[in-house]
Amino acid sequence: MNAPQPSIRGVSIDVRGVTKRYKSARGEPIQALELVDLDIAPGEFISIVGPSGCGKSTLMMLVSGLIPVSSGEIRVDGKPIFGAVKQAGIVFQRDVLLDWRSVLDNVMLPVEIKKLDPKTHLVKARQLLASVGLAGFEDKYPGELSGGMRQRASICRALVQNPGLLLMDEPFGALDALTREQMNVDLQRIWMQERNTVVFITHSIEEAVLLADRVVVMSARPGRIADVLEIDMPRPRGSHSRSDPAFLHHVEKIRRHFMALGILSEA
Ligand SMILES: Nc1ncnc2c1ncn2[C@@H]1O[C@H](COP(=O)(O)OP(=O)(O)OP(=O)(O)O)[C@@H](O)[C@H]1O
Ligand SMILES: [Mg+2]
Repeated sequence: MNAPQPSIRGVSIDVRGVTKRYKSARGEPIQALELVDLDIAPGEFISIVGPSGCGKSTLMMLVSGLIPVSSGEIRVDGKPIFGAVKQAGIVFQRDVLLDWRSVLDNVMLPVEIKKLDPKTHLVKARQLLASVGLAGFEDKYPGELSGGMRQRASICRALVQNPGLLLMDEPFGALDALTREQMNVDLQRIWMQERNTVVFITHSIEEAVLLADRVVVMSARPGRIADVLEIDMPRPRGSHSRSDPAFLHHVEKIRRHFMALGILSEA
Protein backbone atom coordinates (compact mmCIF):
# COMPACT_ATOMS: atom_id res chain seq x y z
CA MET A 1 0.00 0.00 0.00
CA ASN A 2 1.49 3.33 -0.94
CA ALA A 3 -1.20 5.78 0.12
CA PRO A 4 -0.24 8.16 2.90
CA GLN A 5 -1.36 6.79 6.21
CA PRO A 6 -2.90 9.41 8.46
CA SER A 7 -4.85 8.05 11.41
CA ILE A 8 -6.43 4.94 9.95
CA ARG A 9 -9.98 4.58 11.13
CA GLY A 10 -10.81 1.54 9.00
CA VAL A 11 -11.70 -1.77 10.62
CA SER A 12 -10.12 -5.14 9.84
CA ILE A 13 -12.29 -7.84 8.25
CA ASP A 14 -11.61 -11.57 8.43
CA VAL A 15 -13.75 -13.79 6.24
CA ARG A 16 -13.07 -17.44 7.15
CA GLY A 17 -14.45 -20.44 5.29
CA VAL A 18 -17.68 -18.64 4.49
CA THR A 19 -20.40 -20.32 2.47
CA LYS A 20 -23.86 -19.01 1.69
CA ARG A 21 -26.85 -21.01 0.55
CA TYR A 22 -30.15 -19.44 -0.38
CA LYS A 23 -33.41 -21.21 -1.13
CA SER A 24 -35.10 -20.74 -4.48
CA ALA A 25 -38.82 -19.88 -4.62
CA ARG A 26 -39.41 -23.64 -5.08
CA GLY A 27 -37.37 -24.43 -2.00
CA GLU A 28 -34.31 -25.76 -3.85
CA PRO A 29 -30.92 -24.80 -2.41
CA ILE A 30 -28.81 -22.23 -4.29
CA GLN A 31 -25.14 -22.30 -3.40
CA ALA A 32 -24.13 -18.64 -3.80
CA LEU A 33 -20.70 -18.69 -2.12
CA GLU A 34 -18.40 -21.59 -1.32
CA LEU A 35 -15.56 -21.49 1.19
CA VAL A 36 -14.51 -17.88 0.79
CA ASP A 37 -11.44 -16.77 2.77
CA LEU A 38 -10.38 -13.13 2.72
CA ASP A 39 -8.50 -10.94 5.19
CA ILE A 40 -8.80 -7.19 4.76
CA ALA A 41 -6.44 -4.85 6.63
CA PRO A 42 -7.63 -1.65 8.37
CA GLY A 43 -7.84 1.17 5.83
CA GLU A 44 -7.38 -1.12 2.85
CA PHE A 45 -9.26 -0.52 -0.41
CA ILE A 46 -10.47 -3.82 -1.88
CA SER A 47 -12.21 -4.11 -5.26
CA ILE A 48 -14.23 -7.21 -6.14
CA VAL A 49 -14.84 -8.22 -9.76
CA GLY A 50 -16.58 -11.31 -11.08
CA PRO A 51 -19.29 -12.48 -13.44
CA SER A 52 -22.92 -11.64 -12.83
CA GLY A 53 -24.44 -13.94 -10.21
CA CYS A 54 -21.11 -15.07 -8.71
CA GLY A 55 -22.05 -13.78 -5.26
CA LYS A 56 -20.41 -10.33 -5.04
CA SER A 57 -23.46 -8.63 -3.52
CA THR A 58 -23.99 -11.65 -1.29
CA LEU A 59 -20.44 -11.35 0.06
CA MET A 60 -20.96 -7.64 0.70
CA MET A 61 -24.26 -8.23 2.49
CA LEU A 62 -22.66 -10.94 4.63
CA VAL A 63 -19.85 -8.55 5.61
CA SER A 64 -22.44 -5.87 6.48
CA GLY A 65 -24.08 -8.36 8.84
CA LEU A 66 -27.46 -7.75 7.20
CA ILE A 67 -27.72 -11.41 6.18
CA PRO A 68 -26.23 -14.40 8.07
CA VAL A 69 -23.58 -16.82 6.78
CA SER A 70 -24.61 -20.46 6.21
CA SER A 71 -21.27 -21.61 7.58
CA GLY A 72 -17.89 -20.10 8.38
CA GLU A 73 -17.26 -16.88 10.23
CA ILE A 74 -16.79 -13.15 9.63
CA ARG A 75 -14.92 -11.01 12.14
CA VAL A 76 -14.75 -7.22 12.28
CA ASP A 77 -11.77 -5.96 14.28
CA GLY A 78 -11.32 -9.51 15.50
CA LYS A 79 -14.86 -9.87 16.88
CA PRO A 80 -17.44 -12.23 15.33
CA ILE A 81 -20.37 -10.25 13.96
CA PHE A 82 -23.93 -10.65 15.21
CA GLY A 83 -26.47 -8.67 13.22
CA ALA A 84 -25.83 -5.41 11.38
CA VAL A 85 -22.25 -4.14 11.64
CA LYS A 86 -22.55 -0.72 13.25
CA GLN A 87 -19.31 0.61 11.71
CA ALA A 88 -20.61 0.02 8.15
CA GLY A 89 -21.82 2.64 5.66
CA ILE A 90 -23.36 1.22 2.47
CA VAL A 91 -23.73 2.64 -1.04
CA PHE A 92 -25.91 0.71 -3.49
CA GLN A 93 -25.96 0.77 -7.28
CA ARG A 94 -29.15 2.79 -7.30
CA ASP A 95 -29.09 5.67 -4.88
CA VAL A 96 -31.78 5.27 -2.28
CA LEU A 97 -32.30 8.92 -1.46
CA LEU A 98 -35.64 9.95 0.03
CA ASP A 99 -37.35 12.27 -2.46
CA TRP A 100 -39.15 14.29 0.21
CA ARG A 101 -36.00 15.23 2.11
CA SER A 102 -33.46 17.84 1.00
CA VAL A 103 -29.95 16.74 0.02
CA LEU A 104 -28.58 17.80 3.43
CA ASP A 105 -31.41 16.04 5.29
CA ASN A 106 -30.75 12.89 3.27
CA VAL A 107 -27.07 12.97 4.20
CA MET A 108 -28.01 13.51 7.87
CA LEU A 109 -30.43 10.55 7.94
CA PRO A 110 -28.00 8.03 9.56
CA VAL A 111 -27.14 10.65 12.21
CA GLU A 112 -30.83 10.94 13.10
CA ILE A 113 -31.40 7.19 13.07
CA LYS A 114 -28.37 6.50 15.25
CA LYS A 115 -29.12 9.52 17.47
CA LEU A 116 -25.60 10.94 16.99
CA ASP A 117 -24.70 14.53 17.81
CA PRO A 118 -26.38 16.65 15.09
CA LYS A 119 -24.09 19.68 15.47
CA THR A 120 -20.75 18.03 14.72
CA HIS A 121 -22.23 15.83 12.03
CA LEU A 122 -23.87 18.79 10.30
CA VAL A 123 -20.41 20.31 9.85
CA LYS A 124 -19.13 17.00 8.49
CA ALA A 125 -22.14 16.65 6.15
CA ARG A 126 -21.55 20.10 4.66
CA GLN A 127 -17.82 19.42 4.29
CA LEU A 128 -18.48 16.14 2.50
CA LEU A 129 -21.02 17.71 0.13
CA ALA A 130 -18.56 20.50 -0.68
CA SER A 131 -15.77 17.96 -1.29
CA VAL A 132 -17.81 16.27 -4.03
CA GLY A 133 -18.90 19.53 -5.68
CA LEU A 134 -22.34 19.77 -4.08
CA ALA A 135 -21.84 23.01 -2.12
CA GLY A 136 -24.90 25.13 -2.81
CA PHE A 137 -27.11 22.08 -3.38
CA GLU A 138 -27.77 21.32 0.31
CA ASP A 139 -31.37 22.55 0.17
CA LYS A 140 -32.26 21.02 -3.21
CA TYR A 141 -34.36 17.88 -3.42
CA PRO A 142 -33.13 14.65 -5.05
CA GLY A 143 -35.51 15.16 -7.99
CA GLU A 144 -33.60 18.33 -8.87
CA LEU A 145 -30.23 16.51 -9.17
CA SER A 146 -28.55 14.55 -11.98
CA GLY A 147 -27.76 10.85 -11.52
CA GLY A 148 -24.12 11.59 -10.72
CA MET A 149 -25.07 14.25 -8.16
CA ARG A 150 -27.53 11.89 -6.50
CA GLN A 151 -24.89 9.20 -6.24
CA ARG A 152 -22.44 11.73 -4.77
CA ALA A 153 -25.04 12.61 -2.14
CA SER A 154 -25.46 8.88 -1.37
CA ILE A 155 -21.73 8.54 -0.82
CA CYS A 156 -21.80 11.53 1.55
CA ARG A 157 -24.64 9.88 3.45
CA ALA A 158 -22.64 6.67 3.84
CA LEU A 159 -19.61 8.66 5.04
CA VAL A 160 -21.25 11.16 7.39
CA GLN A 161 -21.02 8.88 10.44
CA ASN A 162 -17.26 8.29 9.85
CA PRO A 163 -17.79 4.60 9.10
CA GLY A 164 -14.87 2.28 9.71
CA LEU A 165 -16.17 0.24 6.80
CA LEU A 166 -17.51 1.54 3.51
CA LEU A 167 -19.35 -1.06 1.43
CA MET A 168 -20.09 -0.09 -2.17
CA ASP A 169 -22.08 -2.30 -4.54
CA GLU A 170 -21.52 -1.10 -8.12
CA PRO A 171 -22.03 2.49 -7.00
CA PHE A 172 -21.15 4.00 -10.37
CA GLY A 173 -22.77 1.41 -12.63
CA ALA A 174 -25.58 3.69 -13.75
CA LEU A 175 -23.40 6.71 -14.54
CA ASP A 176 -22.03 7.90 -17.88
CA ALA A 177 -18.33 7.28 -18.53
CA LEU A 178 -17.12 10.82 -17.84
CA THR A 179 -19.05 11.23 -14.59
CA ARG A 180 -17.82 7.81 -13.56
CA GLU A 181 -14.21 8.79 -14.11
CA GLN A 182 -14.69 11.89 -11.99
CA MET A 183 -16.39 9.84 -9.27
CA ASN A 184 -13.38 7.53 -9.19
CA VAL A 185 -11.12 10.53 -8.58
CA ASP A 186 -13.46 11.92 -5.90
CA LEU A 187 -13.82 8.59 -4.12
CA GLN A 188 -10.07 8.01 -4.05
CA ARG A 189 -9.47 11.48 -2.63
CA ILE A 190 -12.05 11.01 0.12
CA TRP A 191 -10.65 7.58 0.96
CA MET A 192 -7.10 8.95 1.16
CA GLN A 193 -8.36 11.51 3.69
CA GLU A 194 -10.67 9.25 5.68
CA ARG A 195 -8.82 5.92 5.43
CA ASN A 196 -11.92 3.80 5.95
CA THR A 197 -11.72 0.17 4.95
CA VAL A 198 -13.48 -0.05 1.57
CA VAL A 199 -15.07 -3.03 -0.18
CA PHE A 200 -15.92 -1.86 -3.70
CA ILE A 201 -17.84 -4.08 -6.13
CA THR A 202 -17.66 -3.28 -9.82
CA HIS A 203 -18.15 -4.84 -13.23
CA SER A 204 -15.38 -2.65 -14.63
CA ILE A 205 -11.95 -4.26 -14.53
CA GLU A 206 -10.28 -0.87 -15.17
CA GLU A 207 -12.17 0.78 -12.32
CA ALA A 208 -11.29 -2.08 -9.97
CA VAL A 209 -7.57 -1.79 -10.76
CA LEU A 210 -7.52 2.01 -10.69
CA LEU A 211 -8.98 2.25 -7.20
CA ALA A 212 -7.81 -0.77 -5.26
CA ASP A 213 -4.91 -1.82 -3.10
CA ARG A 214 -5.97 -5.38 -3.97
CA VAL A 215 -8.43 -6.73 -6.52
CA VAL A 216 -10.36 -9.88 -5.64
CA VAL A 217 -11.32 -11.85 -8.75
CA MET A 218 -14.29 -14.19 -8.27
CA SER A 219 -15.30 -17.19 -10.34
CA ALA A 220 -18.82 -18.10 -11.41
CA ARG A 221 -21.40 -19.69 -9.12
CA PRO A 222 -20.84 -21.03 -6.61
CA GLY A 223 -18.68 -17.97 -6.05
CA ARG A 224 -15.11 -18.58 -4.99
CA ILE A 225 -12.05 -16.39 -4.97
CA ALA A 226 -10.10 -17.21 -8.14
CA ASP A 227 -7.25 -14.75 -7.54
CA VAL A 228 -6.18 -11.75 -5.50
CA LEU A 229 -3.98 -9.16 -7.24
CA GLU A 230 -1.85 -6.64 -5.38
CA ILE A 231 -2.02 -3.26 -7.19
CA ASP A 232 1.22 -1.59 -6.26
CA MET A 233 0.84 1.72 -8.11
CA PRO A 234 1.48 5.19 -6.71
CA ARG A 235 -1.45 7.34 -5.57
CA PRO A 236 -3.29 9.47 -6.30
CA ARG A 237 -4.17 7.54 -9.43
CA GLY A 238 -6.10 9.16 -12.25
CA SER A 239 -6.43 9.29 -16.03
CA HIS A 240 -2.63 9.26 -16.33
CA SER A 241 -2.50 5.89 -14.52
CA ARG A 242 -4.54 4.19 -17.23
CA SER A 243 -1.56 4.19 -19.59
CA ASP A 244 0.86 3.00 -16.88
CA PRO A 245 2.34 -0.40 -17.90
CA ALA A 246 1.55 -1.80 -14.42
CA PHE A 247 -2.12 -0.81 -14.85
CA LEU A 248 -2.33 -2.41 -18.29
CA HIS A 249 -0.61 -5.54 -16.98
CA HIS A 250 -3.12 -5.98 -14.14
CA VAL A 251 -6.13 -5.32 -16.40
CA GLU A 252 -4.86 -7.85 -18.91
CA LYS A 253 -4.22 -10.43 -16.20
CA ILE A 254 -7.81 -10.15 -14.92
CA ARG A 255 -9.14 -10.35 -18.51
CA ARG A 256 -7.18 -13.57 -19.01
CA HIS A 257 -8.73 -14.95 -15.82
CA PHE A 258 -12.19 -14.33 -17.20
CA MET A 259 -11.21 -15.89 -20.52
CA ALA A 260 -9.93 -18.98 -18.72
CA LEU A 261 -13.21 -19.13 -16.80
CA GLY A 262 -15.14 -18.90 -20.08
CA ILE A 263 -16.73 -15.56 -19.15
CA LEU A 264 -14.89 -13.58 -21.84
CA SER A 265 -13.88 -14.79 -25.29
CA GLU A 266 -11.60 -13.44 -28.04
CA ALA A 267 -13.28 -11.66 -30.96
N1 LIG B 1 -32.38 -13.61 -1.63
C1 LIG B 1 -32.02 -14.56 -2.51
N2 LIG B 1 -32.72 -15.70 -2.63
C2 LIG B 1 -32.34 -16.68 -3.47
N3 LIG B 1 -31.26 -16.60 -4.28
C3 LIG B 1 -30.52 -15.49 -4.22
C4 LIG B 1 -30.86 -14.40 -3.35
N4 LIG B 1 -29.94 -13.43 -3.50
C5 LIG B 1 -29.08 -13.88 -4.44
N5 LIG B 1 -29.42 -15.11 -4.85
C6 LIG B 1 -28.68 -15.93 -5.85
O1 LIG B 1 -27.35 -16.06 -5.38
C7 LIG B 1 -26.44 -15.92 -6.45
C8 LIG B 1 -25.48 -14.77 -6.18
O2 LIG B 1 -26.22 -13.56 -6.21
P1 LIG B 1 -25.55 -12.12 -6.03
O3 LIG B 1 -26.63 -11.12 -6.11
O4 LIG B 1 -24.72 -12.14 -4.80
O5 LIG B 1 -24.59 -12.06 -7.31
P2 LIG B 1 -23.73 -10.84 -7.90
O6 LIG B 1 -22.36 -11.35 -8.12
O7 LIG B 1 -23.89 -9.65 -7.02
O8 LIG B 1 -24.41 -10.59 -9.31
P3 LIG B 1 -24.55 -9.22 -10.16
O9 LIG B 1 -23.18 -8.95 -10.69
O10 LIG B 1 -25.50 -9.55 -11.25
O11 LIG B 1 -25.03 -8.15 -9.25
C9 LIG B 1 -27.28 -15.72 -7.71
O12 LIG B 1 -27.43 -16.97 -8.34
C10 LIG B 1 -28.61 -15.25 -7.19
O13 LIG B 1 -29.65 -15.69 -8.03
MG1 LIG C 1 -24.72 -7.75 -7.32
